[in-house]
Amino acid sequence: MEFCDEVLVLKDGSVLETGSHLDLMKVEGHYLIDQENSTRGLVTWRTFHQYNKAAGGFCVSFFILLIFIVLITNAALSYWWLSYWLSQGHGTANVTASEQGNVSVNSDLLFYQLMFALIIVLLLSVCTLKCLCFIKITSHAATTLHNGLLRKVLDSPMRFFEWNPMGRILSCFSRYQDEVDSLVPHHLNALLVFCLIAVCACVVTSVIFPIMLLPLVLLITLFALLLRMFLRNICELKKMENISRSPCISLCSSIAQGLSTIQAYNKTWQFQRLSDINANHFLLFNYAMRWLCFLVDSLCAVMALPVALLVIFSSNDIRSPPMKALALCFIYMIQSLMEVEARFISVERLLEYITGCESEGSGPVGQVDQVSEDWPRCGAITFQDYQMRYSQNSPVVLNGLQLHVSGGEKLGIVGKTGSGKSSLAAALFRLVEPAAGRILIDGVDITSISLSDLRRKLSIIPQDPVLFTGTVSGLDGKLQAELTQDEGTVSAGQRQLMCLSRALLRNSKIILLDEASASVDAETDSLIQITIRDSFQHCTTLTIAHRIHTILQVDRVLVLDHGQVIEFDHPDVLKQRPDSLFSSLLTAANTVMS
Ligand SMILES: Nc1ncnc2c1ncn2[C@@H]1O[C@H](COP(=O)(O)OP(=O)(O)O)[C@@H](O)[C@H]1O
Ligand SMILES: [Mg+2]
Repeated sequence: MEFCDEVLVLKDGSVLETGSHLDLMKVEGHYLIDQENSTRGLVTWRTFHQYNKAAGGFCVSFFILLIFIVLITNAALSYWWLSYWLSQGHGTANVTASEQGNVSVNSDLLFYQLMFALIIVLLLSVCTLKCLCFIKITSHAATTLHNGLLRKVLDSPMRFFEWNPMGRILSCFSRYQDEVDSLVPHHLNALLVFCLIAVCACVVTSVIFPIMLLPLVLLITLFALLLRMFLRNICELKKMENISRSPCISLCSSIAQGLSTIQAYNKTWQFQRLSDINANHFLLFNYAMRWLCFLVDSLCAVMALPVALLVIFSSNDIRSPPMKALALCFIYMIQSLMEVEARFISVERLLEYITGCESEGSGPVGQVDQVSEDWPRCGAITFQDYQMRYSQNSPVVLNGLQLHVSGGEKLGIVGKTGSGKSSLAAALFRLVEPAAGRILIDGVDITSISLSDLRRKLSIIPQDPVLFTGTVSGLDGKLQAELTQDEGTVSAGQRQLMCLSRALLRNSKIILLDEASASVDAETDSLIQITIRDSFQHCTTLTIAHRIHTILQVDRVLVLDHGQVIEFDHPDVLKQRPDSLFSSLLTAANTVMS
């Protein structure tokens, strides 16, 4: 709707609001879809804590930290041993003047070599252990987050999918998850390594060259100030980049399907604009990162100056390498710290969904009762003053339904578009929880049992069934016919027949058929009707009829209007009453046919 010149919001038959999409979106509380908001500012400690928990908890993290410490200490030890070995020179050996300080003539050469080899072997082993453990733990954290998100999304009520565009959900499972899988561990590893090296260098500097502690404190203060200035803005840029990507992903499939239409109407610029917005945010984020690195680099260069001057003008005792290493380490440390902070935004987004999504059936449902395996035995359905609304602030769409359908009865449901037929089906499957009243199946309140029990016992043949790619072998060992998700190969009526076969196999006592509104050929249509009549003789069948002629044979017809029961009787009885809504619907259908 973004590209429409004007948007009209209708309510109860009158125009509630008009204006451009942008203006209307600014009015609070009138969102058609949820706005994708992210918490502002830095990633909270709670996010790091949750990630730590997903990785296995504090003990595991402490173990990893310990391995990193051992690794860095080991690396430092190897350098120290090398410098110690070199400082020993020729050792106790009697040497000529030209061989003075030559380590190869040292009588303990083998010992030094063996020790050095041992330290290197140790270093390699610890490094391998660190890699294995780090990969295992970070992939465990990523898997835990992914599974948590998947469970939450699969358990989400219908509302969630209406308010969250598909691109946003896909973004979570593709981009955010990819960052959690690969970039978070990569930068976290770098951060840990550089932090420990910096600590190591700090210790070495303060021991060997205490006077350098003064500029060191200055350096750390300057870096802290820079971090403070940049970190928040870089995080904001990253969040903007993330949010502007979702609409692009949303449009990907639409663009692929409707490319020729888009080109024919010359509307490519609109899609280019979305892509440009995202690219701009991406560019700004990377500019900010580069700019910060440049500043940090320059600071380090400035710091190198006093070190270099000291080296030139002071005695030979002064050793600058630890300080130089420190300056270098700080550059990488700050860069990785920024990267970790920015990449953890993805972890934060996943956690927002995992903790924020409400699960289906978690509404006002009390204790969950167990139902017996053979429930429902006869399939009687009772609506007791049942009311339903799709969300808290939307109007009631089923208003005080009061009716009883006996077990095995064939019920036809008719009504104008928007009268509440599909909502009645949604109510029966508890896709939406009741606002008031209840539905009993064989005397059991459907809100008192688990959703899986309820849905397992009912069968639905939807208007436009979705078939997953695979074979029909589930129906019969010999049936190996390949089915595809491609709607072009199997018609809506044929897909409904597949659902009917599934209902037959499941032995459901209650079948709900939403007639295909897409044109179904007469042969398939009559096949569906015959199957229902013959194979589901003992089942309660509710048929939402779009072609009124198909329900002239049913036991009773329920006529709905504005979510209320208007008529509920045998079709012949209703036909006799010329003032009935059913008669007028039938007359209208006859007129269209003739
Ligand atoms: N997912 C939904 N969210 C909010 N309102 C809905 C939703 N689906 C249907 N409605 C509203 O509920 C009313 C009944 O719709 P529906 O049950 O689909 O009618 P029918 O199937 O008889 O055409 C309509 O006013 C419709 O706007
Ligand atoms: Mg409908």
